[in-house]
Amino acid sequence: MAKYGHFDDANREFVITRPDTPLPWLNMLGQDDFFGICTQTAGGYSFWKDARLRRLTRYRYNSNPMDNDGRFLYIKQGKTIWNPGWKPVRTPLDAFECRHGLGYTRITGRKGGVEVEQLIFVPPDENVEIWKVTVRNASRTTKRLSLFSFVEFCFFEALNDMTNYQRTYSIGEVEVEGSAIYHKTEYRERRNHYTLFGCTRDIAGYDTSRDAFVGVHHGLHDPRAVLAGRCSNSRAYGWNPIGAHQVDLAIKPGKSEAFAFVLAYVEQGDLPKFDAPFVMNKAKGRDVLAKYSDMAVVDGAFAALRRRWLDLLSAYQAPQVPNVHLQRMTNVWNQVQCMATFNLSRSTSGYETGIGRGMGYRDSNQDILGFVHLLPARARQRILDIASTQLSDGTCFHQYQPLTKKGNADVGGGFNDDPLWLILSTCAYVRETGDRTILGEPCGYADKPGSRDTLLHHIETSMAYTLRNRGPHGLPLIGHADWNDCLNLNCFSKEPNESFQVTGDIAGSKAESVMIAGLFLYAARELAALYRFLGSPADAARLDGHHADMLRTVEEQAWDGAWYTRAFDAEGRPVGSKACDEGKIFIESQAWCVLGGAGAGNGRAKKALQAVEKYLYRPDLGCALQWPPYSTYHLELGEVTSYPPGFKENAGVFSHNNTWIHICWALLGDGRRALDYYLSICPSAKRDHDVYRSEPYVYAQMTASQFSPTPGEAKNSWLTGTAAWSFVVGSQYILGVRPEFDGLRVDPCVPTDWKGFTVQRRFRGVTYTISVRNPRGRSKGVKSLLVDGRRVEGNVIPLAAGAGTAVSVEATLGS
Ligand code: GLC
Ligand code: GLC
Repeated sequence: MAKYGHFDDANREFVITRPDTPLPWLNMLGQDDFFGICTQTAGGYSFWKDARLRRLTRYRYNSNPMDNDGRFLYIKQGKTIWNPGWKPVRTPLDAFECRHGLGYTRITGRKGGVEVEQLIFVPPDENVEIWKVTVRNASRTTKRLSLFSFVEFCFFEALNDMTNYQRTYSIGEVEVEGSAIYHKTEYRERRNHYTLFGCTRDIAGYDTSRDAFVGVHHGLHDPRAVLAGRCSNSRAYGWNPIGAHQVDLAIKPGKSEAFAFVLAYVEQGDLPKFDAPFVMNKAKGRDVLAKYSDMAVVDGAFAALRRRWLDLLSAYQAPQVPNVHLQRMTNVWNQVQCMATFNLSRSTSGYETGIGRGMGYRDSNQDILGFVHLLPARARQRILDIASTQLSDGTCFHQYQPLTKKGNADVGGGFNDDPLWLILSTCAYVRETGDRTILGEPCGYADKPGSRDTLLHHIETSMAYTLRNRGPHGLPLIGHADWNDCLNLNCFSKEPNESFQVTGDIAGSKAESVMIAGLFLYAARELAALYRFLGSPADAARLDGHHADMLRTVEEQAWDGAWYTRAFDAEGRPVGSKACDEGKIFIESQAWCVLGGAGAGNGRAKKALQAVEKYLYRPDLGCALQWPPYSTYHLELGEVTSYPPGFKENAGVFSHNNTWIHICWALLGDGRRALDYYLSICPSAKRDHDVYRSEPYVYAQMTASQFSPTPGEAKNSWLTGTAAWSFVVGSQYILGVRPEFDGLRVDPCVPTDWKGFTVQRRFRGVTYTISVRNPRGRSKGVKSLLVDGRRVEGNVIPLAAGAGTAVSVEATLGS
């Protein structure tokens, strides 16, 4: 760990101590509408709401060097040029540190007696990104230097921006006023918004033309203007507009100077667009820059960000947990990652380009499970937005754009797990808030413009869809795929230019998914519990009946002898069965059958989990998705067989599905395994970062498994359903504080050698401080529950009256 950095738990930061990490280590900026990704060398880009439709700065994906565009500061000191974040120039620094914190990144570099600190953050509820820059003279002589800022503007629509140069090279437009650079491409025609990049201090010059500042045959590592020590006040007209400022400084020994750069997204609203022909009305931009030209306002905005995050996190804090990894992930980083997945779904990270995918139907529903306690009102709106992309027959648009909230027609629907996830998110919301009014909200169907069918109608439509679309074994049809996007049982693609995801005729297909059956079992139970809460016992009984029927089908048709079969292909042959040569056992069907209540009375749940342990689990890696990996391409299975063994869905450790197994162990009462399995994929617990390579503070989608040549190497960090589900595992199943419709359940499942721990939970406006004691060395089972000193039967803390009150709870494990 020490090689590249360490956690600073007290400050809730991860400290990176050298810039050349094994992969770029990202942070996410922004929590409302303005977002950015930011690496330890200040790489990354910014956007407003939608990384495809409102991108403000450019980023070249998969560039070499990796992570090559960003929010750069260049220092020219004598003949030396350097960046405080090391890149792009890569001049060796005398000191470097990057602190990724809660919605901010602070990069500090020192060279030749000068220290430059760049604090990058997006204040709460503002559409600006601020770089507070502090230049310190740590030497005994006065330092004279020039500091240059640099961003490259994106023409808002990122795909066109990156692909259509015959047009884009001729549309770029800017204006400059003092130290404010306005990027206004397409503003004369249909756009009513622009990007402002300003400096709060007097400048010695600026550039807005990339050719002038960087040079056609130069790169960001040796920009011509910086080498020359002088900007040329260039005005971009077409080609590639950039924003660069030159600030000349003379700083006395021991002194420092602080100022800021402001990158803002401005919408004109109803204001007149122009002051004069070609002269944009800049009133709003001027106001933004004026506001942040007061350093006290900048500091105040940063303090507000700190407060905002501390308040968010205070909804769940476990201050005394016997395991440091579980503690810091649950208290800080897992919640930070849940904010990112809620906001960005699978759209924008170091691996997701912000162009390909918007919000995923199944993804965003699951993301809510780890986010709903942070900002329930936003979760509520998201649930309604997602539901509106469902069609009236129950199918769902698989993805939608965050800006337009419209389903992406090129991907369409037909992923048959999608409808059911809506039930999990909705129930999580109602459990958290007790707000049943959401169920009556009209959210309509995507194919029925103006329809006002309610959320509850959508939920029933989802259940009916699964019940109606079943195959020869009585199990749900899979469609294009279920949660495992790569198990494409109807694809049969021989053509490399086809997409595995959407190719294939699903109408009339017989291919069935046991995983969806398990998910249906789980959803049916959730919904039955919801109906009981709503006082509709008849509906609850109807759902219980569906549960019983599907359970019978699963037990009769899907038990393979030692585990649950994964699926039946289009010919009715089992997938994930001992009868298969490869892909004999899959993780998802074990998890979801058990979560749905299968195998409970007959010992199969335990057997299925033991099979996971035997064939899939490695304590240092986690569980592979299936075994044995596919060595050849199978036409009848699709993309899952396209990956080399040990990667991704072909028997890689796909972190997301591991978390379901963690819950299963907790449900079975095995606290040692629940924690050990949790730690097996926990980024904070990874020790060799030259092997792991990805960020130690957030989950990655996958880790190469024992079946690959690079076991333990993680990829695709940040945007993964692992975030939400791991938070559920840690907070609700291991530490065991779980919202129910009628109160807060205390049901921990911990290793027997844990003596106790404390959880502070804000729930429906009341703060509960829950101390759990384990005097007899148990894993699970609350023997006594004292609520404000009074004994309560069972393990559910009844709802306390009065928002703002504090309740103290003592739970003792035992039997
Ligand atoms: C990706 C997708 C998700 C899918 C998973 C497994 O993470 O975003 O929707 O469930 O892969 O294939
Ligand atoms: C690929 C990935 C899978 C992802 C899907 C989304 O198939 O392997 O993880 O969910 O793309 O389109």
